Amino acid sequence: MASDRAITLRVNGRSITTAVPAHRTLLEALRDAGFVDVKRGCEKGDCGACAVLIDGVAIDACLTLAWTAEGRTIVTAAGLGKDELHPLQTSFIEKGAIQCGYCTPGLLIAAHSLLAMSPDPSEDEMRFELSGNLCRCTGYSKVFEAVKDAATKMAAREAHHD
Ligand code: FES
Ligand code: FES
Repeated sequence: MASDRAITLRVNGRSITTAVPAHRTLLEALRDAGFVDVKRGCEKGDCGACAVLIDGVAIDACLTLAWTAEGRTIVTAAGLGKDELHPLQTSFIEKGAIQCGYCTPGLLIAAHSLLAMSPDPSEDEMRFELSGNLCRCTGYSKVFEAVKDAATKMAAREAHHD
């Protein structure tokens, strides 16, 4: 019988200490700690609803053991904006890219990871990079519109800070 070990996770700028057994996934640990914006979907890496950023890269939390995330920087969808909503969050709202919303946190995380790699993504890049995130409602075109819109907002923000 595996015993629990206390681990400290850095999530959205906070440190969370929690006792978990070796087999507990990061998804379970985060939800148990109150980060319910990390969605529980298929729990086998198919739907992307549970995606979080780990050191800036989108990872399925259901495929990650909580112990392995210790000491790394974890950001959930709710942690993307600081004092105000992140441009991706406002663009998803403004472009109607949220319907039931279940896929939205994972899509925001995947889109964030995409824009970090490719600040002005083509439709092909968006299709490829967001292909691990299943959405039953939007048909994706509004999602792609929102990601493009956020890219434009982020480029303008960059130019303003230069
Ligand atoms: S819940 Fe993790 S990929 Fe579906
Ligand atoms: S908005 Fe419902 S699954 Fe995507």
